[in-house]
Amino acid sequence: MNREQWSSKLGFILAAAGSAVGLGNIWRFSYVVGTEGGAAFVLLYLVIISLIGYPLLTTEIAIGRKTQRNPVGAFKALAPNSPWWLVGGMGVLAGFVILSFYSIVAGWSLAYTAKAITGFDATADFTGMFVGHITSLWPPIIWHAIFMALTIGIIASGVVNGIQRASKILMPALFIIILILVVRGLTLPGAGAGVSFFLSPDFSEVTSKTFLRAIGQSFFTLSLGMGALITYGSYLKREDNISDSAAWIVGIDTAVALLAGFAIFPAVFALGFEPGSGAGLAFMTLPAVFASMPFGTLFGFMFFFLLAIAALTSAISLLEVVVAWIVDEKGWSRTKAAFTLGGIIFLTGLPPTLGFSVLSDIKFLGMDILDTYDFFASDVMLPLGGLLTAVFAAHVWKTKNAIEEINSPKGVISFGNWYTVLVGYIIPIAIAIVMIVGIYDKVIK
Ligand code: PHE
Ligand code: NA
Repeated sequence: MNREQWSSKLGFILAAAGSAVGLGNIWRFSYVVGTEGGAAFVLLYLVIISLIGYPLLTTEIAIGRKTQRNPVGAFKALAPNSPWWLVGGMGVLAGFVILSFYSIVAGWSLAYTAKAITGFDATADFTGMFVGHITSLWPPIIWHAIFMALTIGIIASGVVNGIQRASKILMPALFIIILILVVRGLTLPGAGAGVSFFLSPDFSEVTSKTFLRAIGQSFFTLSLGMGALITYGSYLKREDNISDSAAWIVGIDTAVALLAGFAIFPAVFALGFEPGSGAGLAFMTLPAVFASMPFGTLFGFMFFFLLAIAALTSAISLLEVVVAWIVDEKGWSRTKAAFTLGGIIFLTGLPPTLGFSVLSDIKFLGMDILDTYDFFASDVMLPLGGLLTAVFAAHVWKTKNAIEEINSPKGVISFGNWYTVLVGYIIPIAIAIVMIVGIYDKVIK
């Protein structure tokens, strides 16, 4: 059977940027920045994105294009008869876990979009009205089902007709909406306090946990460490350059995260709210912010619609990883794989939803079920996957071969010996230190 390919370099960049740009840039980025002390965290994040994120993203794409396989098959092809395929296997598992809670949060976004159409009302009990979409029993399950159905539908339609087409429509729409929201946020009276929270660093808040959070956020936001880029890279044509496309993907993702910060923090501060409320920032604090802002209904609608679009182009990449695995390795049809695996993920998504209603007593290290899924996937599995991928590329596949794949054909950015030092030594050691210290702190406390 012929493997599908992106029809153009732009198609690939938009699809991969669609995977990268998601709830991670808006919901997750803003609340982690809010709880980890603002600008100091942002600075740390930018350093990690450039020194670890970009080289690893490029490496994953190269592994995918070289082998034309899903993550498990890719490791098998480059290191036959070795246990390295387990790294790809952990990626597929991470895809399951992440999509299970991702679809819940995406479902909230859909619910809020629908709610925003009927109107935010400053005089009504708007917070309770919205929060019901999270804490009651059935609505979040129904919206989760609707979101999974959309995701499954796109993936069943194929790489070009599904993923690439959805990204080509949704990514430009997302850009326009976020720019409008930034203008709205920055022109509110009192916006300056939010800008300085976001831009003037205070290092007194930085601890080992901040480093772990920054690494976890960087991997999550770039869709890194679980083979999403291996999978998307496997549909890339040999004549398309890798290093420049990777720079575009990282650049677009980072730009959207920073823009989201400029849309959210000025509004939060201008209307007298606190940024440190945690995972509820976008869903509990922001509705209150919108309700007390001029034209808040319109901007609230745009914000949650933006969140839903961003989530959809990322969710399809999560499902594509598990679908590509079972299609390549077990010979399933794409349609059967999309419906079956999507259905299973719907079910594994139930515990994190129920953690806000009937299972709200269940806590792990102080986290609810959704945060627990997120912690294990984002702060543990993704960095570990990234570390092992770096070691694999440098010492098993060998940097010479990786660089050759990355540089053919040559782009504006060309990879050389710095890559060997960075990916072979500095990146794995840095991730290992941060993970060991950060997890130790988290579990001891
Ligand atoms: N990068 C996506 C986001 O920022 C999430 C994601 C993680 C998607 C891992 C695919 C793989 O929302
Ligand atoms: Na992202």
